[in-house]
Amino acid sequence: MNDSNSRRIAIFDTTLRDGEQSPGASMDLAEKTEVARALVELGVDVIEAGFPIASPGDFEAVCQIARSVRGSVICGLARCRDADIDRAWEAIQYAEQPRIHVFLATSAIHREHKLRMDKDEIIRRAVAGVRRAAGYSGDVEFSPEDAVRTETDFLCQVVEAAIDAGATTVNIPDTVGYATPKHMSNVIQTLRDRVPNIDQAVISVHCHNDLGLAVANSLASVEAGAGQVECTINGLGERAGNCSLEEIVMALRTRNDYYHADTRILSRRLVPTSRLVAGITGIQVQRNKAIVGQNAFAHEAGIHQDGILKERTTYEIMRPEDVGLAMTDLVLGKHSGRAALADRAKALGYNLTGEQLDTVFNEFKILADKKKDIYDADIAVLIEQQIHAVTERWSLVSYQVASGTEQVPEVTLVLRCGQQQFSTKMACGDGPIDAVFLAMEKLTGISVVCKDFSVHSVTVGKDAQGEVLVQVEHQDRLYRGRGVSTDSVEASAKAFLNAINRIVAVTNGGRQ
Ligand code: KIV
Ligand code: ZN
Repeated sequence: MNDSNSRRIAIFDTTLRDGEQSPGASMDLAEKTEVARALVELGVDVIEAGFPIASPGDFEAVCQIARSVRGSVICGLARCRDADIDRAWEAIQYAEQPRIHVFLATSAIHREHKLRMDKDEIIRRAVAGVRRAAGYSGDVEFSPEDAVRTETDFLCQVVEAAIDAGATTVNIPDTVGYATPKHMSNVIQTLRDRVPNIDQAVISVHCHNDLGLAVANSLASVEAGAGQVECTINGLGERAGNCSLEEIVMALRTRNDYYHADTRILSRRLVPTSRLVAGITGIQVQRNKAIVGQNAFAHEAGIHQDGILKERTTYEIMRPEDVGLAMTDLVLGKHSGRAALADRAKALGYNLTGEQLDTVFNEFKILADKKKDIYDADIAVLIEQQIHAVTERWSLVSYQVASGTEQVPEVTLVLRCGQQQFSTKMACGDGPIDAVFLAMEKLTGISVVCKDFSVHSVTVGKDAQGEVLVQVEHQDRLYRGRGVSTDSVEASAKAFLNAINRIVAVTNGGRQ
């Protein structure tokens, strides 16, 4: 139970900026906008939409989010350089509530080896950067990059100067994930004790997870007085990632008795938002990930199951429905109707249009013919395929493969493109999946290098659906593809064709 005197902690989500810096997590414009909308629905206070000067694509995404997404502060990142700050403002100026986030490294290691600047120069540039940003917006955040490894006196000096220059939030990054909880709380406490104007700004923290301590360090910072936490969905981010949004939010809420602090996050949107980001980035969360992992609420041991049946609080500190996990797992089957599916979709956190529901229902019926029990995860996968569908120039009509240990696979493949069908028959590859991929490259005229391929089962049982994720490279750019089927070769074929359709959508290439 939350006490009414809880301190409100602002949630600053950087999935679209720091999260997108995770290898393989890049998102296109439409995907970034979809994530931004989901973050507003989740209730995040600030969305860091990108680093506008980094690339034209980043600029365009921040612009579009600033123009079209309402309900959260929209923030653009900039180094303490005029061109960066001007570009950030250009991108966010039409936001309902625009914030410019300027950063400059302050630690001795960064000063000496990366920036080659002395302390006076750092202060001069930080002040100039904050002033320029403050000329555009009344909401300016300043980050002394690598703050945690910065000499204490100097950190206090920089923070004081940045606030004097107009910073309304001072963010303390543990850029390399070096801090420990006590260390982090000492840094925050020291700033509160020694920076005379500290009460004129919100103290924020931005912890990386290199030692697996990002959430613990953020919690320790809140305890020491931080008022904003920077985090990402599923803990995405550079290297080992950032503080995970779902974990910090649920830790504060569940242990409100201890922290007397809470956020305005709508916790029932946590699992749907996590699924959305995993689906878009192709980076799945581990099964035992706290809060949003598939096993986070699964009780295996008999003693635990017995306890839960008698009184759930014996082994459960949070209710699954509070984080957006539906209560029942075994749900629908062959005889379930459209209304039951609509209900389930809603319980899983998806708001489908009538048209989307019709398509999902058709897919559901096809699946129900192949699979007796349809679980929540099966339904979530069907829905996600529908809501993230790319315009399909190419679609799969049929394939047949004959393969064995002593035989070069023989594949017959038929694809449709517009009104026309194309087919090929070839003997190739080092297995049935490879053969289908090679035949698809031949028919579509698009060659790729396969960089990653993974298959996992969506639920349990021998009739479980397999989900295949592929990552392919075409003309120096990476594309993802996703396919689901009860047959793993078909799931692979769908995933590969999905990636090819993404290539076609971007390059308009291949057979015309
Ligand atoms: O990790 C870091 O220091 C950053 C800054 C830009 C805030 O991401
Ligand atoms: Zn970072």
